[in-house]
Amino acid sequence: MKIKVLFVCLGNICRSPMAEGVFNSHIEKAKLNQWIEADSAGTSGYHIGELADPRMRKTALEHGIELTHKARQFETNDLLIFDYIIAMDHINLSDLNRLAAGSSKTIYLMRSFGPSPDNLDIPDPYYGESDGFEEVYQLLNEYTAFLLENIKPRIGI
Ligand code: 4NP
Repeated sequence: MKIKVLFVCLGNICRSPMAEGVFNSHIEKAKLNQWIEADSAGTSGYHIGELADPRMRKTALEHGIELTHKARQFETNDLLIFDYIIAMDHINLSDLNRLAAGSSKTIYLMRSFGPSPDNLDIPDPYYGESDGFEEVYQLLNEYTAFLLENIKPRIGI
């Protein structure tokens, strides 16, 4: 059985598809594709079916990562399917916790996987300047690597 990881943001066109893409690149480098898989979703349905925002795809490509995910909305069934559900910011976290009310699932915050407790958000780059996309990449590259280290013991590594 694979460990299944779901990254969640608001639109599923910027942060969470980047998290999925960069986490997959860490998994590939570590040759752990057989053990771990990732997906992403949005709490909103604003962009269902769309590829990631062109600005996020461009930033990803600059780092050798192609984002091919098409946006989908989070659904309560995801609570049953995924081992890790990881919110990008506190608004995503509270929206998910509302949807998960009555479920025993823990929803994590992306930056809670750092070596020192860091309860900050992955900032939403959508309405900001273009350097916000590079910042999102840098943060997600770092924190998804921490996440992978956290998961490794569960697969006996
Ligand atoms: P994301 O960014 O949650 O990182 O995908 C956003 C994308 C779209 C919108 C907001 C944030 N929007 O309002 O359409």
